[in-house]
Amino acid sequence: MIKSIKGTRDILPDEVGAWHRVEQAAHQLFSRYGYREIRTPIFEETQLFARGIGADTDIVAKEMYTFPDRDEEKTSLTLRPEATAGIVRAVIEHNLYQTDPALKVYALGPMFRRERPQKGRYRQFHQVDVEAFGMERPSIDVEIIQLALDYLRACGLTESQLILNSVGDAKCRPAYVETLRSALRAHKDRLCADCQRRTETNPLRVLDCKVPEDQAIIESLPKISDHLCAECRDHFAEVRRELGLLEIPYELSHRLVRGLDYYTRTTFEVTSAALGAQNSVLGGGRYDGLVRDLGGPDLSGIGFALGMERLVMLIPPGPQESRCDAFLAVLVPRAFDRALLIQHDLREAGVRVLVDHEARGLKSQMKKADKLGARYVAIMGEDELADDVWTVRDMTTSTQERVSDVKLAEYIEEKMRGRDAG
Ligand code: HAM
Repeated sequence: MIKSIKGTRDILPDEVGAWHRVEQAAHQLFSRYGYREIRTPIFEETQLFARGIGADTDIVAKEMYTFPDRDEEKTSLTLRPEATAGIVRAVIEHNLYQTDPALKVYALGPMFRRERPQKGRYRQFHQVDVEAFGMERPSIDVEIIQLALDYLRACGLTESQLILNSVGDAKCRPAYVETLRSALRAHKDRLCADCQRRTETNPLRVLDCKVPEDQAIIESLPKISDHLCAECRDHFAEVRRELGLLEIPYELSHRLVRGLDYYTRTTFEVTSAALGAQNSVLGGGRYDGLVRDLGGPDLSGIGFALGMERLVMLIPPGPQESRCDAFLAVLVPRAFDRALLIQHDLREAGVRVLVDHEARGLKSQMKKADKLGARYVAIMGEDELADDVWTVRDMTTSTQERVSDVKLAEYIEEKMRGRDAG
């Protein structure tokens, strides 16, 4: 038997209701904040991610699904591991910043990372991604954080923590990274193998290390908050003041450096203890140099992405929806033409209709209608066919009435309207 690929999962019809709810909530809420949807391709040129996310990140170094295209030039393609780089490419390619007076976009869709699969971590997963361009003031940082929290609330998530940091900018971070590297070199022999390597390649990533033996050393390292330049310090202070104004609680963490290299200044994550080891529901931050680094103008950017699998795991399950309003039970083959005609009338009237195409016996059809949650079953047997009527059974009251064939659509529609209103 051929099975699904490790790290991928099917979203089955019984689960899809929750996905629809979080997707609907995104469309509704984001438009109130002025965001419009953008859809970019699932694969891009590999160098977009290598340059955008950073060659020394785990994502680019070991997690990308990369393959040569079947062309003469041997273009290297990669399944997108995240949405930001592709969106930035689209913004530059279509000059969106020249025509859109408020460049705010969001995207939903699958991402691919070859990580070790575990609960909440998949190789194909889905993100809700939000990005705003050309806005430098701290108030957009705060607005985007507020949007993220509003979204979680709209989806029914009540327990979560906001974690906040500033990672400086191109002016102050390089000096901090050097300070950090020197401090790390002093402890080099006592660090885990990964951190020894990161000390040279990407010292900031050491702050993300979870190895218990390394923690005491990491806590003693110089903190970025003590090494921000005046502009970054002021920017961060204003972000924090405005979060206070809006009464948004947060926790500061100087170790929140995130796994992608493009961040500048504000970084944030929302975590939930209910998720276990993979506790990050969403993460994001500012990336003021990325548009320029990818060949565009000097345009600031900020955004976040949320893991949809993780969100769906956290929210309360919705009610199990009934599958149909009316079920047509045809008991004699000659009545089937009536069913074919009337089912279309009913559907045009907005009624959800199912018919048993196999036209089994009444008992088996009633059982099926019950399982499908039908509110009404319209039965046509020999007698009904002779009189041109349907016997309509109300499944909740167990009462039944005879309704003429021409009136059936109107009858059911009216009953449903009365019930919805009541
Ligand atoms: P990220 O932190 O790599 O950021 O991913 C964001 C979210 O995607 C995570 O918080 C998590 O919920 C989910 N996620 C990541 N990897 C997996 C996985 N293997 N399985 C399941 N869920 C996963 C970014 O992707 C940035 N592009 C966010 C951003 C947008 N920053 C600025 N704009």
